[in-house]
Amino acid sequence: MNKNIVCIGAGYIGGPTMAVIAKMNPDRKVTVVDINEARIKAWNSKTFALPIYEPGLVDVVKEVRGKNLFFSTDIKKAVQECDIIFVGVNTPTKMFGRGAGRASDLQFWEATAREIKGWAKGEKIIVEKSTLPVKTAAAMDAILNCEDGPQGTVPAKKRFTVLSNPEFLAEGTAINDLMNPDRVLIGGPDTPEGREAVRELTAIYQGAGMKWVPSYKILTTNVWSAELTKLAANAMLAQRVSSVNALAGLCEATGADIDEVARVMGADHRIGPKFLKAGPGFGGSCFKKDVLNLVYLCETFGLHTAAEYWAGVIKMNDHQQERIVSRLFREMFNTLAAKRIAIFGFAFKADTGDTRETPAGTVVRLLAAEHAAISVTDPKALPNAKKDLADLDGIAFEADPYKAAKDADAIVVMTDWKDYLALDWAKIYKSMRKPALVYDTRNCLDARALRALGFKVLNTGK
Ligand code: NAD
Ligand code: UGA
Repeated sequence: MNKNIVCIGAGYIGGPTMAVIAKMNPDRKVTVVDINEARIKAWNSKTFALPIYEPGLVDVVKEVRGKNLFFSTDIKKAVQECDIIFVGVNTPTKMFGRGAGRASDLQFWEATAREIKGWAKGEKIIVEKSTLPVKTAAAMDAILNCEDGPQGTVPAKKRFTVLSNPEFLAEGTAINDLMNPDRVLIGGPDTPEGREAVRELTAIYQGAGMKWVPSYKILTTNVWSAELTKLAANAMLAQRVSSVNALAGLCEATGADIDEVARVMGADHRIGPKFLKAGPGFGGSCFKKDVLNLVYLCETFGLHTAAEYWAGVIKMNDHQQERIVSRLFREMFNTLAAKRIAIFGFAFKADTGDTRETPAGTVVRLLAAEHAAISVTDPKALPNAKKDLADLDGIAFEADPYKAAKDADAIVVMTDWKDYLALDWAKIYKSMRKPALVYDTRNCLDARALRALGFKVLNTGK
């Protein structure tokens, strides 16, 4: 009999991942649970007004919701009725006590382990889907498998087997990343139960008769390697972005062009062309927290030089947004007070409404500190932008980019939405105060065409 699946955590990772698992395993029941009632309500919305925007997601949810995919707040029932439990709760940076500002805050994770232990009957496979510090599975194992009572003794036969199965999808391309992953990573203990659990999880990714992920792409390791690989992969990607942004500053100082430098560097197959796009710095919920987590792990194990090395990736990233505002300040005659600045794009990247750690948020706050008059526009992220900037007075939020740009002195393009390429830039130019400036931090617009219209144009790394 095929085993039923539950995922605890119905966020950016739990929702899309389980929707695709349900699609590719039509003979399994998949239930996604969360303590956040509003989120579950949105996942169950009759009009499919889902809580997150992700291209293609709504089609998958329409196909499977109510058939073999269910969203619920009844965690107890779901845990009791399933055999395999994915845990995809949030693991933000800890903001208090030991490791504050660097370590992972594991309180949601531990609460989940205790919930599972309280309600589960029989044997279960527990799958770490969240990104976690190395050795978290050992803590999970200790909490789940100790017997109740004063001694907390470990029984002869463990009821719970803990696997690590980190997720590598990127927002904006999540459905394609899930359907055609570069690899699926499964870390499991080298014990008879551990090997059996890895086989069970592998079967899910092979998809019942659906030929989903080919065997050669399912990579198995020990649990600690799996946990560390997830942090390492994000750190390597973040490091590439910081490296290219560090070079962008040098390009601006010397007359070199970062897009040309990146194109030629990337033509070397050992370097490769991806993740070499200079811009406003990386955002998103994970790169910063995962690199900081790596820094903390290095410090914990006394590897201080390695910790400093990874901390430099974050330092460089923060510097990138400072640099954008400093350059704008210089180019706008050393005062931004009362200047009207339109922020085009608030999402941390295109094709998502997610604004967690978005560089646009930092830039808006730095501009607000200079008393600039700011309007923000974004095709998908305005609701999140309003929440993020609720503590700032006087920010205008405009769904229509033409209205956001009206009477502005400058437009700062922070997200490379395709929509911005198709705008009538002549009309925008006419509606702005002169001299009209476009700072395209993503290098996504046609700078030559904008200059021909009369704009002064600034780019990253040029
Ligand atoms: P999220 O905040 O969008 O979702 C987490 C959900 O867990 C929330 O809805 C929250 O209410 C729920 N939750 C917290 N505690 C709970 C509990 N005790 N019981 C039930 N539900 C609970 O976060 P996310 O972006 O989905 O990230 C989740 C994890 O996945 C993180 O560790 C992250 O690093 C990792 N990850 C995220 C992505 C991504 O693209 N966002 C990609 C790879 C890995
Ligand atoms: C990233 C990883 O790519 C995923 O593999 C991982 O699963 C995920 O983090 C996670 O653990 O959450 P994500 O943050 O969704 O995915 O998006 P990316 O495409 O990686 O972009 C991250 C940031 O880097 C964005 O702000 C993006 O604009 C920026 N970036 C990316 C650049 O500035 N230049 C580039 O060349 C690439």
